[in-house]
Amino acid sequence: MAQSIKDYITSNKDRFLSELIDLLRIPSVSADPKFKEDVFNAATYVKNRLAEAGAEKTEICKTAGYPIVYGEKIIDPSLPTVLVYGHYDVQPADPYDLWKNPPFEPVIKDDRIYARGACDDKGQMYMHVKAFEYMVRNNQLTCNVKFMIEGEEEVGSANLGTFVKNNGKKLKCDVVLISDTSMIADDVPSITVGLRGLAYLEVELTGPNRDLHSGTYGGAVPNPINILCEMIAKLIDEKTRKITIPGFYDDVQPISDEEKQAIKDIPFKLEDYKKDLGISAVMGEEGYNTIERTSVRPTLDVNGIKGGYQGEGAKTVIASTASAKISMRLVPDQKSEKIAELFTSYFKSLAPEGVKVKVTNMHGGDPVVVPIDSVEYRAASKAYNDTFGKKPLPDRAGGSIPIVKLFEDELGVKSVMMGFGLDTDQIHSPNESFGIFNFLKGIETIPYFFNYYVEMKK
Ligand code: BES
Ligand code: MN
Ligand code: MN
Repeated sequence: MAQSIKDYITSNKDRFLSELIDLLRIPSVSADPKFKEDVFNAATYVKNRLAEAGAEKTEICKTAGYPIVYGEKIIDPSLPTVLVYGHYDVQPADPYDLWKNPPFEPVIKDDRIYARGACDDKGQMYMHVKAFEYMVRNNQLTCNVKFMIEGEEEVGSANLGTFVKNNGKKLKCDVVLISDTSMIADDVPSITVGLRGLAYLEVELTGPNRDLHSGTYGGAVPNPINILCEMIAKLIDEKTRKITIPGFYDDVQPISDEEKQAIKDIPFKLEDYKKDLGISAVMGEEGYNTIERTSVRPTLDVNGIKGGYQGEGAKTVIASTASAKISMRLVPDQKSEKIAELFTSYFKSLAPEGVKVKVTNMHGGDPVVVPIDSVEYRAASKAYNDTFGKKPLPDRAGGSIPIVKLFEDELGVKSVMMGFGLDTDQIHSPNESFGIFNFLKGIETIPYFFNYYVEMKK
Protein backbone atom coordinates (compact mmCIF):
# COMPACT_ATOMS: atom_id res chain seq x y z
CA MET A 1 0.00 0.00 0.00
CA ALA A 2 1.19 3.48 -0.75
CA GLN A 3 2.70 5.42 2.08
CA SER A 4 0.86 8.59 3.12
CA ILE A 5 2.64 11.90 2.56
CA LYS A 6 2.69 12.45 6.31
CA ASP A 7 4.50 9.14 6.90
CA TYR A 8 6.82 9.79 3.99
CA ILE A 9 7.81 13.13 5.51
CA THR A 10 8.34 11.61 8.95
CA SER A 11 10.69 8.97 7.59
CA ASN A 12 12.57 11.27 5.19
CA LYS A 13 12.64 14.72 6.76
CA ASP A 14 16.26 14.57 7.88
CA ARG A 15 17.33 13.77 4.34
CA PHE A 16 15.07 16.53 2.93
CA LEU A 17 16.69 19.04 5.24
CA SER A 18 20.23 17.94 4.56
CA GLU A 19 19.65 18.14 0.80
CA LEU A 20 18.25 21.64 1.21
CA ILE A 21 21.21 22.60 3.38
CA ASP A 22 23.60 21.44 0.65
CA LEU A 23 21.79 23.68 -1.82
CA LEU A 24 21.86 26.61 0.60
CA ARG A 25 25.62 26.22 0.96
CA ILE A 26 26.05 27.26 -2.67
CA PRO A 27 26.24 31.08 -2.80
CA SER A 28 24.23 31.48 -6.00
CA VAL A 29 24.03 35.28 -5.94
CA SER A 30 22.93 36.26 -9.43
CA ALA A 31 23.56 39.99 -8.95
CA ASP A 32 27.29 39.66 -8.27
CA PRO A 33 29.60 38.28 -11.02
CA LYS A 34 31.98 37.12 -8.30
CA PHE A 35 29.60 34.19 -7.70
CA LYS A 36 29.23 33.18 -11.34
CA GLU A 37 30.57 29.66 -10.88
CA ASP A 38 28.40 29.10 -7.83
CA VAL A 39 25.28 30.11 -9.71
CA PHE A 40 26.07 27.50 -12.36
CA ASN A 41 26.81 24.94 -9.65
CA ALA A 42 23.44 25.57 -8.04
CA ALA A 43 21.78 24.88 -11.40
CA THR A 44 23.60 21.55 -11.67
CA TYR A 45 22.67 20.66 -8.10
CA VAL A 46 18.98 21.32 -8.78
CA LYS A 47 19.07 19.36 -12.03
CA ASN A 48 20.62 16.33 -10.30
CA ARG A 49 18.13 16.36 -7.43
CA LEU A 50 15.24 16.66 -9.91
CA ALA A 51 16.51 13.62 -11.81
CA GLU A 52 16.88 11.65 -8.57
CA ALA A 53 13.36 12.59 -7.57
CA GLY A 54 12.04 11.05 -10.77
CA ALA A 55 12.09 13.78 -13.39
CA GLU A 56 12.93 12.81 -16.96
CA LYS A 57 14.62 14.79 -19.72
CA THR A 58 16.31 16.91 -17.07
CA GLU A 59 18.42 19.53 -18.71
CA ILE A 60 20.32 22.72 -18.10
CA CYS A 61 19.03 25.15 -20.68
CA LYS A 62 21.54 27.80 -21.63
CA THR A 63 20.45 31.41 -21.89
CA ALA A 64 22.39 34.61 -22.51
CA GLY A 65 22.66 34.77 -18.71
CA TYR A 66 22.25 32.07 -16.09
CA PRO A 67 20.67 28.79 -17.18
CA ILE A 68 17.16 27.48 -16.65
CA VAL A 69 16.81 24.02 -15.14
CA TYR A 70 14.15 21.93 -16.82
CA GLY A 71 12.71 18.51 -16.03
CA GLU A 72 9.46 16.72 -16.68
CA LYS A 73 7.43 13.64 -15.99
CA ILE A 74 4.79 13.00 -18.60
CA ILE A 75 2.60 10.11 -17.51
CA ASP A 76 -0.15 10.58 -20.08
CA PRO A 77 -0.37 13.44 -22.59
CA SER A 78 -4.15 13.47 -22.29
CA LEU A 79 -3.94 14.38 -18.60
CA PRO A 80 -3.45 17.95 -17.32
CA THR A 81 0.07 19.33 -16.96
CA VAL A 82 1.30 21.41 -14.03
CA LEU A 83 4.36 23.59 -14.60
CA VAL A 84 6.31 24.26 -11.40
CA TYR A 85 8.25 27.52 -11.47
CA GLY A 86 10.85 28.61 -8.94
CA HIS A 87 14.32 30.14 -8.73
CA TYR A 88 17.66 28.87 -7.50
CA ASP A 89 19.40 32.25 -7.43
CA VAL A 90 19.45 34.36 -4.27
CA GLN A 91 19.83 37.99 -3.26
CA PRO A 92 23.25 39.28 -2.19
CA ALA A 93 23.88 38.52 1.50
CA ASP A 94 25.33 41.97 2.27
CA PRO A 95 25.83 43.33 4.86
CA TYR A 96 27.61 40.17 6.06
CA ASP A 97 28.46 41.50 9.53
CA LEU A 98 24.78 41.66 10.45
CA TRP A 99 24.38 37.88 10.09
CA LYS A 100 24.48 35.92 13.34
CA ASN A 101 25.71 32.92 11.32
CA PRO A 102 27.41 33.21 7.94
CA PRO A 103 24.74 33.35 5.20
CA PHE A 104 26.07 30.36 3.28
CA GLU A 105 26.76 28.14 6.27
CA PRO A 106 23.19 27.10 7.07
CA VAL A 107 22.27 26.34 10.67
CA ILE A 108 19.11 24.96 12.23
CA LYS A 109 18.07 26.81 15.37
CA ASP A 110 14.70 26.92 17.13
CA ASP A 111 13.10 24.83 14.39
CA ARG A 112 14.16 27.26 11.70
CA ILE A 113 16.79 27.01 9.03
CA TYR A 114 18.94 30.13 8.70
CA ALA A 115 20.69 30.95 5.42
CA ARG A 116 20.41 33.27 2.44
CA GLY A 117 17.74 31.73 0.20
CA ALA A 118 16.30 29.53 2.98
CA CYS A 119 12.84 30.83 2.14
CA ASP A 120 13.40 32.87 -1.05
CA ASP A 121 13.37 30.68 -2.96
CA LYS A 122 15.52 27.61 -2.44
CA GLY A 123 13.51 26.29 0.51
CA GLN A 124 10.16 26.92 -1.13
CA MET A 125 11.27 25.62 -4.52
CA TYR A 126 12.73 22.48 -2.95
CA MET A 127 9.38 21.63 -1.32
CA HIS A 128 8.15 20.90 -4.84
CA VAL A 129 11.06 18.63 -5.65
CA LYS A 130 10.35 16.58 -2.52
CA ALA A 131 6.57 16.52 -2.96
CA PHE A 132 7.18 15.34 -6.53
CA GLU A 133 9.59 12.66 -5.26
CA TYR A 134 6.85 11.39 -2.93
CA MET A 135 4.26 11.28 -5.69
CA VAL A 136 6.55 9.47 -8.12
CA ARG A 137 7.91 6.90 -5.66
CA ASN A 138 4.51 6.09 -4.22
CA ASN A 139 2.59 5.99 -7.47
CA GLN A 140 0.57 9.01 -6.47
CA LEU A 141 1.22 11.20 -9.48
CA THR A 142 -2.08 11.78 -11.26
CA CYS A 143 -0.99 14.25 -13.94
CA ASN A 144 2.01 15.49 -15.89
CA VAL A 145 4.58 17.71 -14.23
CA LYS A 146 7.14 20.08 -15.71
CA PHE A 147 9.75 21.99 -13.75
CA MET A 148 11.26 25.27 -14.80
CA ILE A 149 13.67 26.62 -12.21
CA GLU A 150 15.48 29.79 -13.19
CA GLY A 151 18.64 31.53 -11.99
CA GLU A 152 17.95 35.19 -12.69
CA GLU A 153 14.77 35.98 -10.79
CA GLU A 154 16.51 38.25 -8.32
CA VAL A 155 17.97 40.34 -11.13
CA GLY A 156 14.80 40.77 -13.16
CA SER A 157 14.61 37.55 -15.25
CA ALA A 158 16.00 39.33 -18.31
CA ASN A 159 16.43 36.13 -20.33
CA LEU A 160 13.41 34.20 -19.17
CA GLY A 161 11.02 36.06 -21.44
CA THR A 162 12.91 34.96 -24.55
CA PHE A 163 13.12 31.40 -23.23
CA VAL A 164 9.37 31.26 -22.63
CA LYS A 165 8.63 32.80 -26.04
CA ASN A 166 10.92 30.33 -27.83
CA ASN A 167 9.78 27.24 -25.94
CA GLY A 168 6.02 27.45 -26.04
CA LYS A 169 5.67 23.76 -26.88
CA LYS A 170 8.09 22.50 -24.28
CA LEU A 171 6.45 24.59 -21.57
CA LYS A 172 2.88 23.88 -22.63
CA CYS A 173 0.82 23.36 -19.51
CA ASP A 174 -2.57 23.94 -17.93
CA VAL A 175 -1.43 25.86 -14.91
CA VAL A 176 1.75 27.25 -13.35
CA LEU A 177 2.42 26.38 -9.70
CA ILE A 178 4.67 28.72 -7.71
CA SER A 179 5.85 28.84 -4.12
CA ASP A 180 7.72 32.14 -3.97
CA THR A 181 5.39 34.28 -1.88
CA SER A 182 4.31 34.19 1.75
CA MET A 183 1.28 33.21 3.80
CA ILE A 184 -0.30 35.33 6.52
CA ALA A 185 0.73 33.26 9.57
CA ASP A 186 1.43 29.64 10.49
CA ASP A 187 -2.16 29.36 11.72
CA VAL A 188 -3.63 31.64 9.02
CA PRO A 189 -2.93 29.94 5.70
CA SER A 190 -3.42 32.04 2.59
CA ILE A 191 -3.11 31.83 -1.16
CA THR A 192 -1.46 34.68 -3.03
CA VAL A 193 -3.88 36.11 -5.57
CA GLY A 194 -1.95 39.14 -6.70
CA LEU A 195 1.55 40.48 -7.20
CA ARG A 196 2.60 44.05 -7.67
CA GLY A 197 4.51 45.09 -10.73
CA LEU A 198 7.78 46.95 -10.67
CA ALA A 199 9.59 49.76 -12.42
CA TYR A 200 13.20 50.09 -11.29
CA LEU A 201 15.37 52.98 -12.45
CA GLU A 202 18.69 54.57 -11.66
CA VAL A 203 19.14 58.32 -11.77
CA GLU A 204 22.48 60.10 -11.97
CA LEU A 205 23.13 63.80 -11.54
CA THR A 206 26.29 65.54 -12.65
CA GLY A 207 27.19 69.06 -11.59
CA PRO A 208 30.71 70.49 -11.74
CA ASN A 209 33.24 68.53 -13.81
CA ARG A 210 35.23 67.45 -10.71
CA ASP A 211 34.97 67.18 -6.93
CA LEU A 212 35.50 70.60 -5.30
CA HIS A 213 36.57 72.12 -2.01
CA SER A 214 33.27 72.93 -0.31
CA GLY A 215 34.63 76.13 1.22
CA THR A 216 36.06 77.53 -1.95
CA TYR A 217 33.09 76.65 -4.16
CA GLY A 218 30.21 75.79 -1.81
CA GLY A 219 27.18 78.05 -2.09
CA ALA A 220 28.08 79.12 -5.60
CA VAL A 221 27.65 75.96 -7.69
CA PRO A 222 24.94 73.29 -7.91
CA ASN A 223 25.73 70.51 -5.44
CA PRO A 224 24.44 67.29 -7.08
CA ILE A 225 23.71 65.65 -3.72
CA ASN A 226 21.69 68.60 -2.45
CA ILE A 227 19.80 68.76 -5.74
CA LEU A 228 19.22 65.00 -5.86
CA CYS A 229 17.64 65.13 -2.39
CA GLU A 230 15.41 68.04 -3.42
CA MET A 231 14.30 66.22 -6.56
CA ILE A 232 13.59 62.97 -4.71
CA ALA A 233 11.61 64.88 -2.08
CA LYS A 234 9.37 66.25 -4.81
CA LEU A 235 8.35 62.76 -5.96
CA ILE A 236 6.07 62.22 -2.95
CA ASP A 237 3.60 64.73 -1.57
CA GLU A 238 4.58 65.63 1.97
CA LYS A 239 1.04 65.60 3.30
CA THR A 240 -0.89 62.97 1.35
CA ARG A 241 2.11 60.75 0.63
CA LYS A 242 0.82 60.37 -2.90
CA ILE A 243 3.24 60.05 -5.77
CA THR A 244 3.39 63.33 -7.67
CA ILE A 245 4.42 62.04 -11.11
CA PRO A 246 1.74 63.34 -13.50
CA GLY A 247 -0.39 60.47 -14.78
CA PHE A 248 1.02 57.99 -12.29
CA TYR A 249 -2.38 56.94 -10.94
CA ASP A 250 -4.27 57.12 -14.25
CA ASP A 251 -4.48 53.35 -14.78
CA VAL A 252 -4.82 52.31 -11.13
CA GLN A 253 -7.98 50.29 -10.65
CA PRO A 254 -10.06 51.08 -7.56
CA ILE A 255 -10.43 48.31 -4.97
CA SER A 256 -13.64 46.31 -5.36
CA ASP A 257 -16.00 45.83 -2.40
CA GLU A 258 -15.18 42.13 -2.44
CA GLU A 259 -11.49 42.92 -2.13
CA LYS A 260 -12.07 45.47 0.60
CA GLN A 261 -13.85 42.77 2.55
CA ALA A 262 -11.07 40.24 1.90
CA ILE A 263 -8.58 42.77 3.31
CA LYS A 264 -10.76 43.28 6.39
CA ASP A 265 -10.77 39.51 6.94
CA ILE A 266 -7.00 39.41 7.26
CA PRO A 267 -6.01 39.42 10.92
CA PHE A 268 -3.63 42.35 11.49
CA LYS A 269 -2.52 44.19 14.59
CA LEU A 270 -0.88 47.53 13.88
CA GLU A 271 0.72 47.60 17.33
CA ASP A 272 2.47 44.26 16.74
CA TYR A 273 3.54 45.39 13.28
CA LYS A 274 5.17 48.55 14.63
CA LYS A 275 6.74 46.69 17.52
CA ASP A 276 8.26 44.07 15.22
CA LEU A 277 9.83 46.82 13.10
CA GLY A 278 10.87 49.06 15.97
CA ILE A 279 8.94 52.08 14.69
CA SER A 280 6.60 54.34 16.63
CA ALA A 281 4.41 55.18 13.63
CA VAL A 282 3.66 53.84 10.17
CA MET A 283 3.68 56.10 7.13
CA GLY A 284 2.00 55.85 3.76
CA GLU A 285 -0.64 57.02 1.32
CA GLU A 286 -3.45 58.97 2.92
CA GLY A 287 -6.79 57.18 3.02
CA TYR A 288 -5.43 53.64 3.03
CA ASN A 289 -4.50 51.19 5.78
CA THR A 290 -1.25 49.26 6.08
CA ILE A 291 -2.47 46.13 4.29
CA GLU A 292 -3.85 48.21 1.43
CA ARG A 293 -0.64 50.23 1.21
CA THR A 294 1.41 47.04 0.90
CA SER A 295 -0.78 45.16 -1.55
CA VAL A 296 -3.32 47.05 -3.65
CA ARG A 297 -1.75 50.52 -3.84
CA PRO A 298 1.33 51.60 -5.80
CA THR A 299 4.42 52.98 -4.05
CA LEU A 300 7.74 54.69 -4.72
CA ASP A 301 10.91 54.04 -2.74
CA VAL A 302 14.56 54.97 -2.97
CA ASN A 303 16.53 51.73 -2.65
CA GLY A 304 19.99 53.20 -2.54
CA ILE A 305 21.74 56.54 -2.77
CA LYS A 306 25.31 57.31 -3.60
CA GLY A 307 27.51 60.37 -3.67
CA GLY A 308 30.26 62.28 -1.94
CA TYR A 309 32.48 61.16 0.86
CA GLN A 310 31.45 57.85 2.44
CA GLY A 311 34.64 57.05 4.35
CA GLU A 312 35.66 57.46 7.99
CA GLY A 313 35.72 60.92 9.52
CA ALA A 314 34.77 64.15 7.81
CA LYS A 315 35.80 65.50 4.44
CA THR A 316 34.77 68.89 3.14
CA VAL A 317 33.84 68.29 -0.47
CA ILE A 318 31.26 68.96 -3.14
CA ALA A 319 30.95 65.84 -5.23
CA SER A 320 30.74 66.03 -8.97
CA THR A 321 28.04 63.35 -9.19
CA ALA A 322 25.28 61.79 -7.14
CA SER A 323 22.97 58.90 -7.95
CA ALA A 324 20.04 56.94 -6.62
CA LYS A 325 18.20 53.73 -7.36
CA ILE A 326 14.47 54.26 -7.30
CA SER A 327 11.72 51.67 -7.62
CA MET A 328 7.97 51.86 -7.94
CA ARG A 329 5.61 49.01 -7.08
CA LEU A 330 2.70 48.90 -9.46
CA VAL A 331 -0.85 47.62 -9.35
CA PRO A 332 -3.37 46.71 -12.08
CA ASP A 333 -3.64 48.19 -14.71
CA GLN A 334 -0.41 50.17 -14.48
CA LYS A 335 2.23 49.20 -17.03
CA SER A 336 5.89 49.10 -16.10
CA GLU A 337 7.11 50.59 -19.39
CA LYS A 338 4.67 53.48 -19.28
CA ILE A 339 5.44 54.27 -15.64
CA ALA A 340 9.18 54.23 -16.38
CA GLU A 341 8.60 56.79 -19.13
CA LEU A 342 6.40 59.01 -16.96
CA PHE A 343 9.00 58.87 -14.20
CA THR A 344 11.85 59.69 -16.56
CA SER A 345 10.30 62.78 -18.09
CA TYR A 346 9.00 64.09 -14.77
CA PHE A 347 12.28 63.50 -12.97
CA LYS A 348 14.22 65.27 -15.72
CA SER A 349 11.79 68.19 -15.55
CA LEU A 350 12.64 68.65 -11.86
CA ALA A 351 16.31 69.33 -12.52
CA PRO A 352 17.47 72.92 -12.25
CA GLU A 353 19.76 74.41 -14.85
CA GLY A 354 23.38 73.54 -14.22
CA VAL A 355 23.00 69.82 -13.51
CA LYS A 356 22.83 67.05 -16.07
CA VAL A 357 20.45 64.15 -15.39
CA LYS A 358 20.78 60.63 -16.71
CA VAL A 359 17.98 58.13 -16.09
CA THR A 360 18.45 54.40 -16.77
CA ASN A 361 15.59 51.93 -16.75
CA MET A 362 17.03 48.86 -15.00
CA HIS A 363 14.21 46.32 -14.99
CA GLY A 364 10.54 45.91 -14.42
CA GLY A 365 7.45 43.80 -14.69
CA ASP A 366 3.70 44.16 -14.81
CA PRO A 367 1.32 43.55 -11.91
CA VAL A 368 -1.07 40.63 -11.89
CA VAL A 369 -4.23 39.50 -10.11
CA VAL A 370 -5.57 35.95 -10.46
CA PRO A 371 -9.21 34.90 -10.06
CA ILE A 372 -10.44 33.04 -6.98
CA ASP A 373 -13.19 31.13 -8.75
CA SER A 374 -10.79 29.10 -10.90
CA VAL A 375 -10.22 25.35 -10.68
CA GLU A 376 -6.64 25.89 -9.52
CA TYR A 377 -7.62 28.30 -6.75
CA ARG A 378 -10.35 26.01 -5.48
CA ALA A 379 -8.02 22.99 -5.63
CA ALA A 380 -5.36 24.86 -3.67
CA SER A 381 -7.94 26.01 -1.17
CA LYS A 382 -9.08 22.44 -0.53
CA ALA A 383 -5.48 21.30 -0.18
CA TYR A 384 -4.73 23.87 2.55
CA ASN A 385 -7.99 23.02 4.23
CA ASP A 386 -6.87 19.39 4.49
CA THR A 387 -3.39 20.06 5.84
CA PHE A 388 -3.98 23.18 7.96
CA GLY A 389 -7.55 22.34 9.01
CA LYS A 390 -8.59 25.83 7.90
CA LYS A 391 -9.79 27.47 4.75
CA PRO A 392 -7.02 29.71 3.39
CA LEU A 393 -7.61 33.44 2.83
CA PRO A 394 -6.94 35.08 -0.53
CA ASP A 395 -4.11 37.58 -0.16
CA ARG A 396 -2.46 40.03 -2.53
CA ALA A 397 1.31 40.25 -2.10
CA GLY A 398 3.35 43.42 -2.12
CA GLY A 399 6.32 41.83 -3.87
CA SER A 400 6.81 41.11 -7.55
CA ILE A 401 7.44 38.09 -9.74
CA PRO A 402 7.47 39.63 -13.22
CA ILE A 403 7.28 36.30 -15.00
CA VAL A 404 3.75 35.59 -13.77
CA LYS A 405 2.24 38.17 -16.12
CA LEU A 406 4.43 36.85 -18.89
CA PHE A 407 3.13 33.31 -18.39
CA GLU A 408 -0.37 34.69 -18.87
CA ASP A 409 0.55 36.61 -21.98
CA GLU A 410 2.87 34.08 -23.64
CA LEU A 411 1.57 30.68 -22.52
CA GLY A 412 -2.02 31.75 -21.91
CA VAL A 413 -2.06 30.14 -18.46
CA LYS A 414 -2.76 31.38 -14.97
CA SER A 415 -0.56 30.78 -11.97
CA VAL A 416 -1.51 29.43 -8.58
CA MET A 417 0.74 30.89 -5.89
CA MET A 418 1.05 28.72 -2.82
CA GLY A 419 3.53 30.49 -0.59
CA PHE A 420 4.49 28.86 2.71
CA GLY A 421 6.98 31.40 4.06
CA LEU A 422 6.11 34.30 6.33
CA ASP A 423 6.65 38.03 5.80
CA THR A 424 8.88 37.93 8.88
CA ASP A 425 11.31 35.39 7.35
CA GLN A 426 13.63 38.29 6.55
CA ILE A 427 14.00 37.50 2.86
CA HIS A 428 16.50 39.88 1.19
CA SER A 429 17.68 40.88 4.71
CA PRO A 430 20.37 39.52 7.00
CA ASN A 431 19.42 36.37 8.96
CA GLU A 432 16.88 35.09 6.44
CA SER A 433 15.22 31.93 7.71
CA PHE A 434 12.51 29.41 6.89
CA GLY A 435 10.47 27.52 9.48
CA ILE A 436 10.90 23.76 9.30
CA PHE A 437 7.16 23.59 10.00
CA ASN A 438 6.59 25.66 6.86
CA PHE A 439 9.00 23.62 4.72
CA LEU A 440 7.35 20.34 5.72
CA LYS A 441 3.81 21.73 5.55
CA GLY A 442 4.51 22.81 2.00
CA ILE A 443 5.70 19.34 1.05
CA GLU A 444 2.59 17.90 2.66
CA THR A 445 0.13 20.29 0.99
CA ILE A 446 1.45 20.13 -2.59
CA PRO A 447 0.35 16.53 -3.38
CA TYR A 448 -3.16 17.38 -2.19
CA PHE A 449 -3.20 20.27 -4.64
CA PHE A 450 -2.22 17.95 -7.49
CA ASN A 451 -4.95 15.46 -6.58
CA TYR A 452 -7.70 18.02 -6.28
CA TYR A 453 -6.60 19.87 -9.37
CA VAL A 454 -6.75 16.77 -11.56
CA GLU A 455 -10.02 15.65 -9.99
CA MET A 456 -11.71 19.03 -10.41
CA LYS A 457 -10.33 19.51 -13.92
CA LYS A 458 -12.16 16.41 -15.20
N1 BES B 1 9.96 35.96 -3.92
C1 BES B 1 10.12 37.34 -4.19
C2 BES B 1 8.81 38.05 -4.47
C3 BES B 1 7.85 38.13 -3.32
C4 BES B 1 8.28 38.26 -2.02
C5 BES B 1 6.51 38.07 -3.58
C6 BES B 1 7.37 38.31 -0.99
C7 BES B 1 5.61 38.14 -2.55
C8 BES B 1 6.04 38.25 -1.24
C9 BES B 1 11.03 37.50 -5.39
O1 BES B 1 12.17 36.67 -5.29
C10 BES B 1 11.56 38.91 -5.43
O2 BES B 1 12.28 39.28 -4.55
N2 BES B 1 11.19 39.69 -6.45
C11 BES B 1 11.70 41.01 -6.62
C12 BES B 1 11.50 41.50 -8.00
C13 BES B 1 12.60 41.19 -8.96
C14 BES B 1 12.31 41.78 -10.31
C15 BES B 1 13.95 41.61 -8.48
C16 BES B 1 10.97 41.96 -5.71
O3 BES B 1 9.77 41.79 -5.42
O4 BES B 1 11.63 42.91 -5.28
MN1 MN C 1 11.68 34.77 -4.81
MN1 MN D 1 13.55 37.64 -3.83
